[in-house]
Amino acid sequence: MNFLDLNALTREEIDLVLSRAEEFVNAPDQRSLLRGVSVVNLFFEPSTRTYTSFSIAEQRVGADIVHLPPGNSSLGKGETVADTAITLSAMGVRVIVTRHPESGFPVRLGEVFEGQVVNAGDGSHAHPTQALLDLLIIRKEFGQIKGLHVALVGDLLYSRVARSNVIGLRKLGAEVTLIGPPTLLPEIFARDGVRVARDLNEVLPTVDALILLRIQRERTTSAAVSTSADYARKYRMDLQRLALLRSHAIVMHPGPYNRGVELTDDVLRFHRWRYADQVFHGVPVRMAVLDYMINGARTLA
Ligand code: NCD
Repeated sequence: MNFLDLNALTREEIDLVLSRAEEFVNAPDQRSLLRGVSVVNLFFEPSTRTYTSFSIAEQRVGADIVHLPPGNSSLGKGETVADTAITLSAMGVRVIVTRHPESGFPVRLGEVFEGQVVNAGDGSHAHPTQALLDLLIIRKEFGQIKGLHVALVGDLLYSRVARSNVIGLRKLGAEVTLIGPPTLLPEIFARDGVRVARDLNEVLPTVDALILLRIQRERTTSAAVSTSADYARKYRMDLQRLALLRSHAIVMHPGPYNRGVELTDDVLRFHRWRYADQVFHGVPVRMAVLDYMINGARTLA
């Protein structure tokens, strides 16, 4: 099984992985789970949170780990992805965790690699493990996701985090509102259970969880984003906007966040800002994904 996006998982499978991740929070030493399993981390894009948490997760489940920076691999000498996959398969590598600027790269790799591929973020397409950890934070906070109202604000067009989150949230029964300017959030993004809104202030008093997104400048042409000042005026989360939230609402961000663009420092001091909790759960969630891929739906002891 490859782990490419959440649409390949059933609601039950998502729940199972989240529950397993929760168990790993209190029992982080699981070194027998992937003993003898070789895992290669192949990241073609910068990454702090995802790279580090996958690395720690792999250690905690006892895998044999190789970090292969693409610049140091033979891909730089003209070896094709297919031939690299043949090489890694021949060595007995079972899992490749990969991040790539090209949407669909993990699918392409999965077609030629004999082992299993985990998508750690591809282009503007998908980032399933980030979505899982976001779902876990929301489920932990409210007990369940069904019936909640979750809003995502900002660069919906280019955010792979948002795309995977919408799939997961809908699967688990949340109502979703997407908020942003038409250049970053086309009207066609609306569908059953997913609403498109332009006015952040109007939506804030109705949300249970608010997920802020970074403007993906590396994927955006300048014309797509209006001036930063204009964006900030309409969509930046600040002290006044925090006051519009209901008392139980939480605010999240996948990171990296840009201070002054999508949020002000007031948000970082907000008592229901869940960023650190999200980062913390990145490790047990990725342990649970690796365990699920290698060991399947076994019951925990
Ligand atoms: C995100 C990513 O790289 O997709 N970060 C992350 O993995 N937590 C979001 C981003 O870059 O904005």
